[in-house]
Amino acid sequence: MKTIALLLTCVLAHAHTTTDPKVGHQTNPLGVDAANPRLSWRMEGEEKGLTQAAYQILVATSPGLLESGKADLWDSGEVKSATTHIAYAGKTLPSSTWIHWTARTWAGEKASEWSAPQKFLTALIGTQPQQPFISFKDSSPFHTARKKLHLPPARYYRDTFETEKKIVSAIAHASALGIYELHVNGQRVGDAYFAPGWTDYAKRAYYNTYDLTELLKDGENAIGAIVADGWYAGYLGYGKLVGYGPHQTGRNIYGKTPSLMVEVHLTFDDGSTAIIGTDPTWKTATGPEYEADFLMGEAYDARKEMPGWATAGFDDSAWEAAILAEKNGSHIQPFSDAFIKKQNREFGFVRPPVFEAYPAQPVRITRELAAKSVKQIKPGTWIFDLGQNIAGNVRLKVKAEAGKTFTLRFAEMLHPDGRIMTENLRQARATDTYIAKGAPEGETWTPRFTSHGFQFVEITGFDTEPPLGTVTGLVMHSDTKLASGFECSDPVVNKIYQNAVWTQLGNWIELPTDCPQRDERLGWTGDAQIYAASAAIHADVAAFFQKWLRELNEAVTPEGYYPSYAPYCFGHGGAVHGTAWSDAGVIVPHALWKATGDTSFFTAHWTAMTRFMEARKAHDPELKGKAFGAPWGDWLNLDDPTPHPYVELAYFTKTSLMMAEMADAQDLKDEAAKYSAWVATMRANFRQQHLQPDGTIKPESQSAYVLALDCGLLTEPSERKKAGDRLAALIRSKAGEKNTGMTTGFLGTKPLLPVLTDTGNLDLAVAMIQSRRYPSWGYEVKNGATTIWERWNSYTEEHGFGGADGKMNAAMNSFSHYAFGAVTEWMMTTLAGIAPAEPGYSKIRLHPHFPSANATSETETISWIKAHHDSPHGRISIHWKRQDDGSLLYEATIPPNTTAELVLPKSSPWKTAEPETGIRTLPPGYHRIEVK
Ligand code: BGC
Repeated sequence: MKTIALLLTCVLAHAHTTTDPKVGHQTNPLGVDAANPRLSWRMEGEEKGLTQAAYQILVATSPGLLESGKADLWDSGEVKSATTHIAYAGKTLPSSTWIHWTARTWAGEKASEWSAPQKFLTALIGTQPQQPFISFKDSSPFHTARKKLHLPPARYYRDTFETEKKIVSAIAHASALGIYELHVNGQRVGDAYFAPGWTDYAKRAYYNTYDLTELLKDGENAIGAIVADGWYAGYLGYGKLVGYGPHQTGRNIYGKTPSLMVEVHLTFDDGSTAIIGTDPTWKTATGPEYEADFLMGEAYDARKEMPGWATAGFDDSAWEAAILAEKNGSHIQPFSDAFIKKQNREFGFVRPPVFEAYPAQPVRITRELAAKSVKQIKPGTWIFDLGQNIAGNVRLKVKAEAGKTFTLRFAEMLHPDGRIMTENLRQARATDTYIAKGAPEGETWTPRFTSHGFQFVEITGFDTEPPLGTVTGLVMHSDTKLASGFECSDPVVNKIYQNAVWTQLGNWIELPTDCPQRDERLGWTGDAQIYAASAAIHADVAAFFQKWLRELNEAVTPEGYYPSYAPYCFGHGGAVHGTAWSDAGVIVPHALWKATGDTSFFTAHWTAMTRFMEARKAHDPELKGKAFGAPWGDWLNLDDPTPHPYVELAYFTKTSLMMAEMADAQDLKDEAAKYSAWVATMRANFRQQHLQPDGTIKPESQSAYVLALDCGLLTEPSERKKAGDRLAALIRSKAGEKNTGMTTGFLGTKPLLPVLTDTGNLDLAVAMIQSRRYPSWGYEVKNGATTIWERWNSYTEEHGFGGADGKMNAAMNSFSHYAFGAVTEWMMTTLAGIAPAEPGYSKIRLHPHFPSANATSETETISWIKAHHDSPHGRISIHWKRQDDGSLLYEATIPPNTTAELVLPKSSPWKTAEPETGIRTLPPGYHRIEVK
């Protein structure tokens, strides 16, 4: 008996675990340059009410030292705290070193086991890479022909080295002006694409950190890299279309010639160290990639492959010597952008003054999609369908004689006659070419330096029908882990949710882009602020947004305004800003703080955020609403515009409220009071200027009502109710057999269903999300959408790609554009009812909403939902169901170290007209409630 009792105690003592440890919101990251990186974890366990009473962290230079009393960098000791996100506070972290760590937690008196040992590789802490950038001798003339494409080849670089002593550690820090891939002893290093990412290179560049130790061998080693134009020198955004850049060509926006920097820190078995890296002893040549451009595509002549080019034994006698990048000299050229017609600027090499370790998950290939069908649409032209709109590339597999050329074109949609629809790519050529080498066993190829937004691949070059396996879709995106699920009784609604997630994957290429296909792919700030909260529901985007906020804050205009996109690549003369776009500088940090609990989203940028708000106030000192910047307003609304000054008043109120809340969270009482005073003035001005005695709003657009309700202009409950009902009436007045009546654009749509719900019009909101009529999310699904479209009328049954009246220019018409997809935020937080009550979900608000059984006449009203979100504390999942007898079944699972406040009717909403709601507090664990 005694033994059994003891065993039981042991099991109970470790009833919970400490798991999912992260550093700076990433798992085992490579390249951490923060002096005090943030360490976090979760608790896991079945016990009801599981809560962290204390934690302990150990940090050491080797896994063997991860024991209390031995850890040589930090032993936090037992700290009584429920916090799970702690800044490192040990000895100064050494650079270029693997750091090992572990954590454990206490629930009451019970300690967990130590978490499985974790590690991260430090970058250069407190120092910068010192090696020179190298390049090839570029004697080509500066490209000046605006109409003619200029697509230089990618460049190969290599060097060998041998050390007398045995190497025990080799840590590389590498960067490029351009994009690069590192190779060592014949192997590609890592699996990232498009390194080192996109910054304003004149101000700052990222570098990547890699552990080469395992790749090196005794004797001679080879190190190499392939470098392409990338954002630095390639075609960028809509520059070619509108005539921005040097000589208005839309390319070479940052510089003429790409360059490379590699710095390897070697440690030998006797403890001594050495640094090797790029210098003019390296050699360079062109290889098979004779074109390598982000927007235009890649061209590859496999006959020019150089087997073993990154191995020591390779004969590089035909390669030329690399040169120091600055030896390519100065290139002063006339630059044009939105502000300046022509201004001479330097396009020769300039070393970025600041380097930072790449702080987020890199772009990777995360999924492969087999082609679903292949069709010949005219002799020799074959179209492969992946069945899903994605961003990325394809793997091409062919068996052909040497010199056979295959041309690949990419499209999101087909014309009715089966041709690919490429009008919406504008100036992005999006064409890849492969010339076969004639390998008897067949050959495969994947581009390295381009990506496309597509579902269909057109290939020419086959004499007979190519097998389906010729094309595999490679889904590429910044590798943020998915974190949610939503399923309900209506398959169309489920598809809407999935389409939004796919649209996010399609646009997470290094930054939140607006679209992955046309000549744009810019970090438009309006789109990002609309979508940030949804993005954080769909995936763990903390590190991704922390990174992009650096780019956004780097691009602040001289006046202190946040720009319309970041990086602001055409910003040599200033930057375009505007209401609801510039607001991203405040809204994105606020949304990510709420999602993660990490206050550094705003503390890191508080000075710039404050300066922005003050600059905006200086623009409109009376706070009456004054047109601010570019007049996009409620972008892509359906003939129901909202005046720009009105939108500005609404957004300024919204961001002032957020600033007050974030000031409070930092205990900045005066600042909080200042923003609250601004809000009071703006509310009073709103009443005076826009609110009519009968409760209607002037101007009377649908979005005017939505913004008044959402942005905090209208707070009095009876007035809110009136405005919500009026909004519902406006929608219904325009609705018809084939039309939902919705007219809202980017700004009005995101909060439309939330404000309808909030003002007692839930059934209308549910009817909208379940509608298959135009315009709606379901209309897109009905018409085959696998991602969210840019416009409500991107495609209509009556006019195809011609918009509402058949006259639209299909050129600005992306089929993977996430702004309208922000409706998933409402689906999760309101319909399913999972939302943070406190930042980071340390307190959860569960407030599901139940539509009447006949909320929509188009189809069966949603009768059940299963949804989950993986919060920083773990998975929150719910299920609700209208049971056959009209009662409500509600189930929820709450993760450890949180509590949930559940808002539920006291009697079934399908049995009682207006049931009283009750609030219950739920501890961690599973809960099942039936409401009769
Ligand atoms: C982008 C948008 C963006 C807009 C600004 C477009 O070309 O694709 O999503 O916000 O420009 O109006």
